[in-house]
Parts: sequence; structure tokens; C-alpha cells
Amino acid sequence: MAAVDRFSFLFTEISKTITAYTEAFAIIGTLYTAKKTLNTALQLYDVVKVHLVARGQQNLVTRFGPWAVVTGSTDGIGKAYAQELARAGVNIILISRSQDKLRKTARELETTFHVETLTIKADFSKGSEIYESISSQLQGKDIGILVNNVGVYDYPQYFVDVPLEKLWQLININIGAATAMSRIVLPQMIEKRKGAIVNITANTALHPTPQIAVYAATKTYLDFLSRAIQYECKDKGITVQSLMPSYVATRMTQFTDASPSVLIPSASVYARHAVSTLGISSRTTGYFPHTVQFWVSSMLPEWLWMWGSSRLNSAIRRKTQLTMQLREARLREKLPQL
Ligand SMILES: NC(=O)c1ccc[n+]([C@@H]2O[C@H](COP(=O)([O-])OP(=O)(O)OC[C@H]3O[C@@H](n4cnc5c(N)ncnc54)[C@H](OP(=O)(O)O)[C@@H]3O)[C@@H](O)[C@H]2O)c1
Repeated sequence: MAAVDRFSFLFTEISKTITAYTEAFAIIGTLYTAKKTLNTALQLYDVVKVHLVARGQQNLVTRFGPWAVVTGSTDGIGKAYAQELARAGVNIILISRSQDKLRKTARELETTFHVETLTIKADFSKGSEIYESISSQLQGKDIGILVNNVGVYDYPQYFVDVPLEKLWQLININIGAATAMSRIVLPQMIEKRKGAIVNITANTALHPTPQIAVYAATKTYLDFLSRAIQYECKDKGITVQSLMPSYVATRMTQFTDASPSVLIPSASVYARHAVSTLGISSRTTGYFPHTVQFWVSSMLPEWLWMWGSSRLNSAIRRKTQLTMQLREARLREKLPQL
């Protein structure tokens, strides 16, 4: 009897403990579910606000200022973004490396949108030596918007196979330019207590990406830079936006052979959507279908992203290398005939 008594006593004690644990787990579960539900609701609210409600409601010149600087503005997203700003009446300062393309783009903007332009020829791959000249050419311009768009992407390769010189070019163009340009333009924005900086990052900023390790890392740098400067400037009337597109059909993504679609918009469709989010969101893809992709990507565990992107990049690398070998072979065949 005594043994049974002891057993029932033990059972009662264990039951009490289990009930206490169950209740604790139930509370943790409820809090976790509530947090997840609140996060999802806030994200949905943000999507509706950024992609639907806020579109086309603001005067960019009044809100930010009469001039915008766009780096890498003679092609792709940069050119399309400059066109959208010009459509809104903003005068454009174009910075790129080809004088002919600069002149042509500036003329198009002036005749189509009746805005003023200024062109600055600069090669961002050169590093720190170019900024004194850029800074002096920007003197006297009331700059309200800086779009740090310039960026280059080499085809996927293993890190050790990329020549060191190419790595420095990637660093100078993809992160050196945005860092230096922001440092040049921000003080006058702070003085006026208005302005916007847009850093074009990419959804590759979300996870480390094998075979485009440096490109992806430069985009993470830009995302972190944007968020930190946004925090520093939030009480100074300045907006710093991290703009994180997925694929956009430009010269950079020619290797995909994809024509523009809903998931891979043309640069002009992308820019129209992205500009409408300026001043509304400090971190966005700028384009609703990309926001859906972003959500999916951000939920993937890192190992799965690494594995998937590694396989995809291996396929792109092999295809690109084959195309390059074929091109070289054709050139060699032609050479003796010349
Ligand atoms: N396309 C995408 O799917 C995608 C996705 C995510 C993020 N992004 C980012 O979006 C930005 C624009 O990409 P994009 O696809 O529009 O590129 P793009 O079509 O290749 O255009 C790049 C622009 O930058 C200029 N540029 C290139 N190297 C330069 C240098 N060393 N100095 C000065 N200007 C230079 C080019 O001038 P030239 O015409 O003289 O070469 C061109 O105007 C990049 O930062 C990229 O990383 C693109």
C-alpha cells in the first residue's frame, strides 16, 4: 500500500509539473503566434501602402529639391530611373563613363521632358581619384535626390578564379561610388533638411551567394550602409532608401536570354514602380512581384539558398564559358582571312 501511495504521490507531483510546462509552452506558443501574425499584418500593410496607396501622390521637386544626380545613367535601370525623375520635372545630372552616351541621354531627357541636364564623365572603376573633380562639378547645384545606381556584375565564377584587378573594380564601382557620392552630397541635404538618397542594392543582399560572392557582398554592404545612414538622418528630413530589385531585363541580365515579363520587368517598368516608392519606404524591392520573390527568398534557410544559387550559378558559368570559347574560336578562324 505504501508503495502505491508513494506512486500516486509521485504521479500527482509529475502531473503538476507537466501542467506547469504545458501552460508555459502554451503561453510561449501564443506569444510567438501573435508576433508572427502582427509581423505578417504589418508587412501586408507595408505592401499595400508602398505598392498601391502611395503611388503618384507626391511632388518630388517640392519634397526633395530641383536636381537629381544619377550614377550609371546611360543604360538600364539608371537611365530609366533618370527618365522617371525627369518626367516628374526634376533636372538631371548624369554621371557615366561614355561621353557619347551621356550626350545622347541628356539630349533625350531635355527634348522629351523639358528639364535641364548636366553631364559628368567619370569612370567609377578608378577609385578615389575621380571624386574631387565630381565634387567640384556639382558645386552650386541644389541637389535633392542622389541615385547610387552604378553597379557591375561579372558572370558567376569561383572567388579564386576572379582576377584581383576585377575584384577591385567591383569594389570601386559597386560600393566605393555609393559611399563617396553619399559623403559628397549628404552635407548639403542635411543643411537644407531635405533630400533623398537611393542605393540600388539587390535581393542577393539577403544571403551569401556562392560564385558571385563579391557582387552579392557589395549589395549587402549597400543595404547595411543605407539602413545605418537612414537611422542617423531620420530626424534631419532625409530619406535613405535601400532599393532591392530581383531580375530586371537590362544589359546586365542578358545572359538569362529572358525577354521582359511580369517577374523580369523592363528597366522602364521597374523604374516607374520604384520611383513611386521614393520617400514612402526606406527598404523595398520597389516592384510588387519582386516583393513576393523577396518574401520567399528571405524565408529560405541559408543552406538551401546557397545550394540552389550554387547550382544555378554553375549552370550559368558553364554556359557563359562555352559561349566565350565559341566566340574566341570563331575569331581565331576569321583572323587569317583579315
Ligand atoms: N539588372 C538587374 O537584374 C539588377 C538586379 C538587381 C540589382 N541591379 C543593380 O542595378 C544597378 C543597375 O544595373 P543595370 O542592370 O541597369 O546595369 P546596366 O544596364 O549594365 O547599366 C549600367 C550603367 O552603369 C554605367 N557604368 C558601368 N560601369 C561604369 C563605370 N566604371 N563608370 C561609370 N559608369 C559605369 C554604364 O555605362 P556604359 O553604358 O558606359 O557602360 C550604364 O549606364 C546596378 O547597381 C545593379 O547591380 C540590377
